[in-house]
Amino acid sequence: MAVQEKRILYRHIDIPDWNASIECYEADGGYQVLKEAVKRDRQELCDEVLKSGIKGRGGAGFPMGMKWKFLDRKSGKPIYLVCNADESEPGTCVDREIIYKDPHQLIEGIMCAAFAINAKQAFIYIRGEYINGYRILIEAVKEARAKGYVGENVCGSGYSCEINITRGAGCYICGEETGLISSLAGKRAYPRIKPPYFPAVMGLYDCPTVVNNVKSLCYVPYIFKIGGEAVSKIGVPNDPGTYVWGVSGQVQKPGRYEIESGACTLGEMLYDVCGGPFAGRTFKAIIPGGSSMKILKWGEKFDIKQPDGSVKELKVEDIPLSAPSLMSCGTALGSAGIIVMDNTVDMVEAMANLNAFYAHESCGQCTPCREGSLWISKITKRICSGGGRLEDPELLMSLADNICGHTICAHGEGMAWPVQSNVAKFKDEYMAKISRQLAGEGEARLDKNS
Ligand code: NAI
Ligand code: SF4
Repeated sequence: MAVQEKRILYRHIDIPDWNASIECYEADGGYQVLKEAVKRDRQELCDEVLKSGIKGRGGAGFPMGMKWKFLDRKSGKPIYLVCNADESEPGTCVDREIIYKDPHQLIEGIMCAAFAINAKQAFIYIRGEYINGYRILIEAVKEARAKGYVGENVCGSGYSCEINITRGAGCYICGEETGLISSLAGKRAYPRIKPPYFPAVMGLYDCPTVVNNVKSLCYVPYIFKIGGEAVSKIGVPNDPGTYVWGVSGQVQKPGRYEIESGACTLGEMLYDVCGGPFAGRTFKAIIPGGSSMKILKWGEKFDIKQPDGSVKELKVEDIPLSAPSLMSCGTALGSAGIIVMDNTVDMVEAMANLNAFYAHESCGQCTPCREGSLWISKITKRICSGGGRLEDPELLMSLADNICGHTICAHGEGMAWPVQSNVAKFKDEYMAKISRQLAGEGEARLDKNS
């Protein structure tokens, strides 16, 4: 059966003649959910989100309703809502499309969420490089304010909430939620250790704060409209809803495809939806959730739990695309950006490229991340420039192992996981490359001595 897209968040994307104006959005029923929501009970709205079971779409997959539930509502401090639009994960460019083409969907989502959690101020922290997105959002908020959807007395309800838009400071770590909160408050984007003080208790200006991704917030009006229970029935039971998969790399039809969780396998996604590999090539590996996840080798097998509770051994290409299935493969769904690599890719070169990114983006607070990422990057670069040593794969493994679990934020693991899986699954490529270099060196020495 051909794979069908189910467009919820992307329902307006690619509609001919669709534009980012408020008139266009309203003509399709836009802001009707907000008008109804402000008449409803706040607790009831939060319960709908909890019932939906929708997990955060930014990458960590923490249930959105739980995050809202953990908000410290008794502190007497103002509550803030922050939309994380600092989309910077390699291979991830899904939020951008919503911001550029359907900004009012996001603004309605923010206002619905802000009302439900009783936030009087909301923020959109947008990636610094999305300059046009920033301009589009400024214009869209202005339009929404003029129509009474943002600002004083929202939809005549007596509830007031402003939206402030801030441009990111141009580095990856600004998207880590505690780094983002710090940057938003005008400080350096240094992440901090979260437990016990999650942003829900101590966030922006030390006040209770909800930080949700663009897609998560766009889900809110849909949940309010059809109800949490109905949303919980879309996709697989323990991972409801749709995901907008961003497929990039060596595949015929890269793009963004919104599909119910678990509704297709990785193979169906790459062959049926994305047209398969380029002529004469074969798939070699993928990273399923942006670049910070463990790499999957094409053809490797995993034990996957089936809906009836039994366990079945499946090849990577037969794994259903959902958070639980990918977790069973030792990786994660992350930001749902699938990076595809075919048989022409040199896995050591690919890793060196990624390592340089992570080393550059380390904020430098923790020694294992700062030093480890730099050493890992230097070693892979050295191998690529002909100076490989036989002990390098083990050394890379040991460096990556020593980063995991020893850092303040997830950047450490985000760098280490791809390295660990790449070296473990493609060690033969490392050894072959290094052996060729050492053999060449030996021959050069013989030539010189003869
Ligand atoms: P995390 O697991 O620490 O937190 C997830 C969320 O749940 C946070 O908002 C956290 O505050 C909340 N939370 C967890 N336990 C809680 C509790 N007991 N009480 C209250 N709140 C709680 O993950 P993190 O570090 O926020 O995200 C890492 C992920 O971000 C990575 O897996 C990666 O895939 C993704 N990522 C996405 C990017 C993008 O461009 N979309 C960029 C970089 C990373
Ligand atoms: Fe900074 Fe890396 Fe430590 Fe995160 S893990 S706080 S990015 S040094």
